[in-house]
Amino acid sequence: MSRPRVVLGVSGGIAAYKACELLRRFTESGHDVTVVPTAAALEFVGAPTWAALSGKPVSAEVWTGVHEVPHVRLGQTADLVVVAPATADLMAKAAHGLADDLLTNTLLTARCPVVLAPAMHTEMWEHPATAANVATLRSRGVLVIEPAEGRLTGADTGKGRLPDPEEIFEVARDVLGRAAAGGSGAPGAPADLAGRHVVVSAGGTRERLDPVRFLGNRSSGRQGYALARAAAARGAEVTLIAANVSLGDPAGVKVVRVESTAELRDAVLTAAATADAVVMAAAPADFRPTAASDTKIKKSDDGSAPSITLQQNPDILKEISQHRVRPGAVIVGFAAETGDATGSVLDLARAKLARKGCDLLVVNDVSGGAVFGSTDNEAVILGADGSSVEVPHGSKSALAHQIWDEVVARLS
Ligand code: CTP
Repeated sequence: MSRPRVVLGVSGGIAAYKACELLRRFTESGHDVTVVPTAAALEFVGAPTWAALSGKPVSAEVWTGVHEVPHVRLGQTADLVVVAPATADLMAKAAHGLADDLLTNTLLTARCPVVLAPAMHTEMWEHPATAANVATLRSRGVLVIEPAEGRLTGADTGKGRLPDPEEIFEVARDVLGRAAAGGSGAPGAPADLAGRHVVVSAGGTRERLDPVRFLGNRSSGRQGYALARAAAARGAEVTLIAANVSLGDPAGVKVVRVESTAELRDAVLTAAATADAVVMAAAPADFRPTAASDTKIKKSDDGSAPSITLQQNPDILKEISQHRVRPGAVIVGFAAETGDATGSVLDLARAKLARKGCDLLVVNDVSGGAVFGSTDNEAVILGADGSSVEVPHGSKSALAHQIWDEVVARLS
C-alpha cells in the first residue's frame, strides 16, 4: 500500500514551532508529508528545519520547480491537507478563494479532506470577520478545529491556543481513516455532525470519604475520549465531561472536569439543555457515603474498622432519558454486562435499555474479563427500535465511529 500523502501547511504564527512535532508524528507513522509554509511561517521556523524533518525540499511560493506545476499537483494528489497553525489571514484567504502563494493554491486545488487548526489571539478569533470566514469554510466541509484555551503569546490567556500537536495528529489520522473507508471524511462529503452539539461523559466518579480518601472505580475514560475525538473529527461541537481522567484534552473539544456523581449530574444536565446527543460513557459511582468526614478517619487502637453507610446516587442516564429537555436528542448509554441465571448478556441489556429509557445502549460483555484501561473494545449497539449492531473487536476509535453512525441515523 502506498503511504498516505499529507500536505502540512504552516502559516505565520508563533505556534509554527509546534508544527515540527506534528510533522514528526506524521513521518514517524509512515505518512508521506510535504510541508508548505507561508512566507510569514518561515520568519518563525526556517525552511531547513522543515526540509530536514520531512526529507523533502520546501518552498513557500509557486516559482520553485515550476516544470512540475506544484501549485496544482500538490493539492490534486494529497490525501489530506492539514494547516497548523492556521492564522486569521490564512483562513480569510481560504474562505475567499485567494491564491497568492503555494499554500493557498494548494487549498484551492485540494479535493481531499482539509483540516485547519487555528491559532491566534482571542480578539482575532472572536472578530466577526474571522467568525464569518470560519463559518464559510465549515459550510464547505472544511474541518476547522476549535482552538484551545490557555496561555497565548506574551502574558495573555484566552481562547486561541493551538491544540497539542499529538491531538491534532489524532484528528488528522481519524479524518484520513474515515476518508479511506469512504465515511464522512471522504472528499467533498460534509462532516455529518457539523452544526450539532454533542455531550460525552467519560471516566469514573469519586465519592469523598474524608479529605484524602474516596470510593472510585477503574474506568480510564478512554472510550469516552475516543467518542469525543471522533465527534470532533466529524465536525461536532463537543462538550466532554471528564470525571478524573488523566488523558490529554482532545483537540477542539470543550472539557468540563468533575469529580463526584453529583457534579457529573449537574454538568450533564446543563450541557444536555442544548445537546443533539448525549453519550453516557462515564462510570458514575452508584453509591456515595452518606456523610463525608471533614477530618481524616483515624485507625483505632483496638483494631476495629469504621463502618461506612452508603446512599444511592441519582441515575443520570435514566433521568435525562425519562425527562427529555430536548425532544429529538439522541441519548446513548453504556452497559457492562455478564449473563446470569436470569438471562443472557443481550437479554439483560435489552431489559436495561427499556428500564433506562435511552435510545441506544452500547453493551460490553465483560464475562471474560474487564475492558478497563484497554485500547480495544468490542460491543453490541442495541436500539430502542429493536435494532442490534455487532461491532467486532477493534479500536475504541472504531467503536466510537460506529456509535456516531447510529446516532447520526437517528438525528432528525
Ligand atoms: N449511569 C448513570 N448514572 C449512574 C449510574 C450509571 O448515568 N448513577 C449510566 C452510565 O454512564 C452508563 C449506564 O448508566 O451509561 C450504565 O448503567 P448502570 O446503571 O451502571 O448499570 P447497572 O448499575 O448494572 O444498572 P442496574 O443496577 O440498574 O442494573
